[in-house]
Amino acid sequence: MSGHARHVYVHLPFCAHRCGYCDFVTVVGKEGQHAVYVDALLHELELERRSLAEDIETIFLGGGTPTLTALPELLRLLEALPPAEEVTVEANPETITPELATALRAAGVTRVSVGAQTFRPELLRVLERVAGPDDVRRAVHHLRDAGFDNISLDLIYGIPGQSAADLAADLDDALALEPEHLSCYELEAKPGTRFTHAWGTELERQAEALEDYFERVVARLTGAGYRWYETANFCRTDSTRDLRSRHNLGYWLGHDYLGLGIGAVSTIEGRRWRNAVGLGRYLGALAAGRPPEREVEELDDDVRARERVMLGLRLDEPLLVDGLRSALDPAGLERAERLGLAVESDGSLTLTRRGRFLGGGVTAEIVA
Ligand SMILES: C[S@@+](CC[C@H](N)C(=O)[O-])C[C@H]1O[C@@H](n2cnc3c(N)ncnc32)[C@H](O)[C@@H]1O
Ligand code: SF4
Repeated sequence: MSGHARHVYVHLPFCAHRCGYCDFVTVVGKEGQHAVYVDALLHELELERRSLAEDIETIFLGGGTPTLTALPELLRLLEALPPAEEVTVEANPETITPELATALRAAGVTRVSVGAQTFRPELLRVLERVAGPDDVRRAVHHLRDAGFDNISLDLIYGIPGQSAADLAADLDDALALEPEHLSCYELEAKPGTRFTHAWGTELERQAEALEDYFERVVARLTGAGYRWYETANFCRTDSTRDLRSRHNLGYWLGHDYLGLGIGAVSTIEGRRWRNAVGLGRYLGALAAGRPPEREVEELDDDVRARERVMLGLRLDEPLLVDGLRSALDPAGLERAERLGLAVESDGSLTLTRRGRFLGGGVTAEIVA
């Protein structure tokens, strides 16, 4: 018997170095554990296979640095995963060699998401990145040479020391590489981290500029013909293909997904679970044929409807409100409409351009 989930996330946590601003589940060193980790992932897949549909739409290998995983192990994993229409691998620029790019392509990867972050050498140093700007350019060229026609670049803005001119130059540099897709994130700095201690005052100054930076990002990228299809995501429109990230669309549209690996989250038929983050215990459990330790949450209909509204309003498409009424606060919605931040018509709800810039603030007003 098969289930319904058509999206699979696989977490590959290994990194060469822990960047100061990063809050993802990562493991530095432990090169000797790549093979046992892939074994564990495949065991977990077997245990959960019944929740997967027969036809998988997307697979996303995220990290960590998936492309730091020993290549034979990465290829063994890709080979063992079910076929999917979109297979994305996240990659750090300095790890992308011609050999890796060719091997990923041959293994059926359709899309690569490259963590560029910025092209300014001094800002890359602030972020403690291993790659320099030329590594990003070289990575994209290697991927193109290997035949990739769906490349995404990640950029971060609000970096300590960044000026509006730096941001403009980053956007120009990214656009010069003609990526099919761009993700542009505000830098999030967790209170209490080493990074926040080191850059506190400058982070406060950047926080005041973020709204302006966000507007500049949207203006520059939409001006270059990209579709602003989600709060932080843009895709090219000069093609007959829909170049949005189908995997992430799955999350934003509230579809079920299975997550494998340490720290990975799954949401299937109203139940959400998050695997514990410890590597040793994850490996131990799966080697013994047991599921890893997990935190489980049952999602009732109200919670699911609220999430559906919050995530759905990040997109540029109208959200059908049929079945989601319980999640909407009529007074808040009326206020948002009066202020020109949201429009409801014919049973669907959309944020206006101004509403999308205010994002979470407007959604908080509308959600019951
Ligand atoms: C899972 S991360 C890591 C990908 C890859 N290891 C790398 O560093 O390039 C995916 C993306 O999230 C973004 N990101 C990570 N930490 C962030 C933070 N603290 N604030 C904003 N964006 C962040 C970066 O743009 C990054 O490329
Ligand atoms: S390489 Fe990416 S995942 Fe690894 S620590 Fe740096 S930002 Fe985080």
